[in-house]
Amino acid sequence: MTALPDRSEIEGVLELAASEAKRYLAGLDDRRVREPGAEAAAHSFRGPLPEEGSGATQALRELVDRGMEATVATSGPRCFHLVIGGTTPAAMGADLLTCALDPIAYAWMVSPLAVELERISLAWLAELLDIPHHEHGVITTGATMANFVGLAAARQWWGERQDLDVAQDGLAGAPAVPVLTGGYVHASSVKALGMLGMGRGSVRKFSRDAVGRVDLPALERALVELEGRPAILIANAGEVNAGDFDPIDALADLAAEHGAWLHVDGAFGLFARVSPRTAHLAAGAERADSITVDGHKWLNVPYDCGFAFVRDPGLLARSFVYDAAYLPDPDDAEPVMGAIGPESSRRARSLTVWSTLRAYGRSGIRGMIERNLDHAAHLARLVDEADDLERLAEAPLCIVCFRYAPPGVPEARLNELNARLGERLLEDGRVYVGTTNFGGKTALRPALVNWRTREEDVDQFVEVVRELGAGLS
Ligand SMILES: Cc1ncc(COP(=O)(O)O)c(C=O)c1O
Repeated sequence: MTALPDRSEIEGVLELAASEAKRYLAGLDDRRVREPGAEAAAHSFRGPLPEEGSGATQALRELVDRGMEATVATSGPRCFHLVIGGTTPAAMGADLLTCALDPIAYAWMVSPLAVELERISLAWLAELLDIPHHEHGVITTGATMANFVGLAAARQWWGERQDLDVAQDGLAGAPAVPVLTGGYVHASSVKALGMLGMGRGSVRKFSRDAVGRVDLPALERALVELEGRPAILIANAGEVNAGDFDPIDALADLAAEHGAWLHVDGAFGLFARVSPRTAHLAAGAERADSITVDGHKWLNVPYDCGFAFVRDPGLLARSFVYDAAYLPDPDDAEPVMGAIGPESSRRARSLTVWSTLRAYGRSGIRGMIERNLDHAAHLARLVDEADDLERLAEAPLCIVCFRYAPPGVPEARLNELNARLGERLLEDGRVYVGTTNFGGKTALRPALVNWRTREEDVDQFVEVVRELGAGLS
């Protein structure tokens, strides 16, 4: 008999999903980040499109039976790869409700709830992050799209400085847009420049060393050479190798002096401003024209979620015009979020963000951040105390950049050894971490931004790194 979606399926499906989610989460602290059978379990889903469906309960049962092994426990306490947050309990509950309500965060007309919570969440975040002039913006799918939005506003501003409406007329025939930054610039900003037609190649990186620290005098000389023509500066608040920061205040001074646009990518680093222990690192971000922050990193809301803040909301409206007879008029008093950002129909991500901010408040979010700061400091100490580990950089925030360097192994062998160690760690799966190239040295770069992480997880991480390293050297 042909299986069709049916109301009678809903109760069983919700019960099954809730009980399996509870079971998974109850084991999350103890399971490997990656099970040895993960790939085979993922491949077991392959097969032709079923002619007849199995019905919802059976489909979900299959998803649970094979999916739990295939999934990598990125929301667990020992996943330090990339920059991956967990999901707060409040956000998890709100995400389930988001599925049930399925609101369209496009416009007030279809969801006053989603739109109001989006506007409140952005205003609360602006307060939390102490960026008081940035209560305008949109929730995006992540920092890549937040960089896209911020740089789209910058592109529009750049065009309008020379009587060009880029969103309307495009860039054909226009001069290249000068984009200046340091070596810390994140790949997603470069990707956004490509998507915006400014070109990946438009970005000029001014670094004074192999690690990518910005060369301010060289950048300033490039601005002087532009003789007042408008330019876009990108400052990086929290780079991915060691969590270091560009001198944002100094870049804001240059932007002010030369009439340039300042975009700050603070995907995770802007949360430094939540704690008095680290706020100085991101000083000056409040002077930016546009700011990127991620939700699914240090705010610990589920994928996917980011925030684009733009000081002048008119630029967003002119960059993302979305107009048709059947749609609400963007000039109406009621907000049309789909006409100030790249997406039109949008998931109501604001429910998870609002719930997290409501549930934990300023002090709870600060506590969550400071716990991770303590973890990073603890990890840095363990690395410094171990005679077979070498820290490669200061750890000002939540990333500790180090390598396995046992006594007696020559420098020339260390890159290959650490690359193999990185692979072994992922195969082993007890803990999870990525490698990078830090000024020519292959290094591990654990990022600690998950509320579930405990000190014992950091201890276990170091033990596993040393155990697997010893097996290779
Ligand atoms: C500084 C910075 N910017 C942008 C991004 C891209 O973020 P997303 O993957 O959320 O798009 C990242 C991701 O790690 C990042 O660290």
